[in-house]
This record gives sequence, C-alpha cells and structure tokens, in this order.
Amino acid sequence: MTTTTNTTNHAPSAAAAGTWQLGDRTVNRIGFGAMRLTGMPWDSAPRDRADAIAVLRRAIELGVNHIDTAAFYFLPTRSANELISTALQPYPDDLVITTKVGPTRSDQGEFEPYARPDQLRGQVELNIRQLGRDHIDIVNLRWGSGLDKESGSVAEHIGALADLREAGLIRHIGVSNITTDQLTEAMGITPVVCVQNRYGLTERTDDELVTLTREHDIAFVPFFAVGGSPRGIPDETGQAEVAAVAEAHGATPAQVRLAWTLHRGPHVLAIPGTGNPAHLDENIAAGALQLSDDELARLDGIAPAG
Ligand SMILES: NC(=O)c1ccc[n+]([C@@H]2O[C@H](COP(=O)([O-])OP(=O)(O)OC[C@H]3O[C@@H](n4cnc5c(N)ncnc54)[C@H](OP(=O)(O)O)[C@@H]3O)[C@@H](O)[C@H]2O)c1
Repeated sequence: MTTTTNTTNHAPSAAAAGTWQLGDRTVNRIGFGAMRLTGMPWDSAPRDRADAIAVLRRAIELGVNHIDTAAFYFLPTRSANELISTALQPYPDDLVITTKVGPTRSDQGEFEPYARPDQLRGQVELNIRQLGRDHIDIVNLRWGSGLDKESGSVAEHIGALADLREAGLIRHIGVSNITTDQLTEAMGITPVVCVQNRYGLTERTDDELVTLTREHDIAFVPFFAVGGSPRGIPDETGQAEVAAVAEAHGATPAQVRLAWTLHRGPHVLAIPGTGNPAHLDENIAAGALQLSDDELARLDGIAPAG
C-alpha cells in the first residue's frame, strides 16, 4: 500500500507509524528532537521564541508524546528545556521526556564531553529543575567527545544512573553514542530501554546495533536521520534515488529519509529536530509513508550495509 503524505486535508498524526513501549511508557514512533528549537551556535541569531513555543505546542497537538532534549541545548538567550517547560506545562500525562547526561557546556558554551559518575546526579537534577518535573522519564548516558563512538567501560556511569533510578530521580535508563560492546555491558548491569546513536539512510555504521536492540526489545532512536550532520545540511548521497521515491509518493526527500528509518524495525523511533512549523508537519506525516519492498531495496542500495 502507498500513502500520499502531503496532499491530505487531514492533519498528520504522530500515531500513524504505531507505538513502542519504553519501559512502562508507551510512545508514538514519531517523536521530536528539541536541539533545533533554540537555533544553533553558528546561526546569526537565535530562533524566534514564539515560533519555538508554537512548534512544541503543535507537536503535542499532532500526537507527539516523546521529546528528546538536553540541558546543554542552549544559546546565550535560549534554552531547549526552558522552552519545553514554558510551552507544555501542565505536561500531558502521556508525554515522555528523554534527556541525556555526560556532556556539559559552560555558560560560555564550551563543551565538556565527559562527567565523572558522581557528577551525573547534579546533571539529572539540573534537567529536573529546568523542565519543572519531579523526575525524568528517560535519561541517556551520552558517551564520546564527538560524533564518533569511543571505547571504554560505561559500567560505573550506568551504575550511578541505576542508583538515581532507585532514588526516584529517573524512571528509565538509555545510552547514546555507544558501541555494541558498551550496550552489552550496560545491559548486564541494568535494564536499558533505548539506544540513541547517529544513523540514517546514508549512515549505516550502526546496522549491527539496530539488529541487537531489536533482539532485546530496546528502542533504537537515530539522530541526524534527516539532516545527516550537525549543520543539518542534507547529505546529497543518493539524492536522485531519494527524490524518485519521494516523487512517487508526493512526499519530500526528508520524509523518505525518515520513513526509511522507521522501516528498519518496529523498535526504531524517530526524533526529527526542527524549529520550522512546516517541517514539523512534514516530519510527522512521514510516519504514514509506506515504502514498498522495491523502494526499500532501491534505497538500501544507496549505502548498503557493510
Ligand atoms: N545523542 C546525541 O548525541 C545527539 C546528537 C544530536 C542530536 N540529538 C537529538 O536528535 C534530534 C534529531 O537530530 P537533529 O535535530 O540534529 O537532526 P535531524 O532531525 O536529522 O535534522 C534536523 C535538520 O534538518 C532540518 N529539517 C528538519 N526537518 C526537515 C524537513 N522536513 N525538511 C527539510 N529540512 C528539515 C532542520 O532544519 P529546520 O530546523 O530549519 O527544519 C535541521 O537543520 C535532535 O533534535 C536532538 O534531540 C542527539
């Protein structure tokens, strides 16, 4: 079956791609990433505050109940967590907010990638204060100094997060930017509900993790699935194939990229980031886009699994 995504008169729904269970919480498979709400450090100006708040409220209106954020998503005059708190309180009962700890940024914006295990409590508490909650639904341990995964034991950090879950500050634990070995190590210590790594149509280095997470009923939550990079510049690899599939559905290339990730398994959850209302609608509509086996084979051929 094919579904035309952007010619419908109905508002798109984040429920169209179905749901997934994150521990005891159920989320629609199309969620939202908050990193782009503030604008990025290299932009000439922060994003308009009212626009960011409108995008968040619209996301909820369209059924988004899974938002990814971080205390270190901020510009001098904008904070993703503050925008979420202002836009969405009182929070809907079904809203699951995921944050990440490990990295911090100074007030001047300097990035410090690693925290000691004993520093994680303060980072979780900061997210709780900024978001105005009593606890955080999901906290990802974010590993690595850049986008490349780095080796090393995550045991002590995961142990520290498990203690915070015992203390009631965290409901569920996830991991981010990690290797298969690190996921296996973490799973040996405590239940892990999600893995958030860089992955997409033309970034297939984590195919093995997509399979491993599925085998263990763990959500796989790719970042940069639309833009492909921090600067959000669409990866041009395979542009012609993506455009042809998009045209056949009356869809956009961004929608095809998102739909491709969702077709990687029922455990894949999308968190496309945007501060643009039209892109938000488009991204949510992508959950209804059904790709045929032929189309999937054609797209898989762009950057086949190694
Ligand atoms: N764990 C980690 O290490 C990590 C790292 C990075 C990000 N993340 C999380 O993952 C989320 C997703 O990543 P992301 O936001 O960087 O990248 P993304 O979702 O792949 O793409 C965002 C970029 O693509 C543009 N875009 C979004 N929707 C579009 C559409 N329909 N058509 C055309 N362009 C579109 C956005 O610009 P506009 O805003 O103008 O639409 C932005 O430049 C983040 O928001 C964040 O929550 C996690």
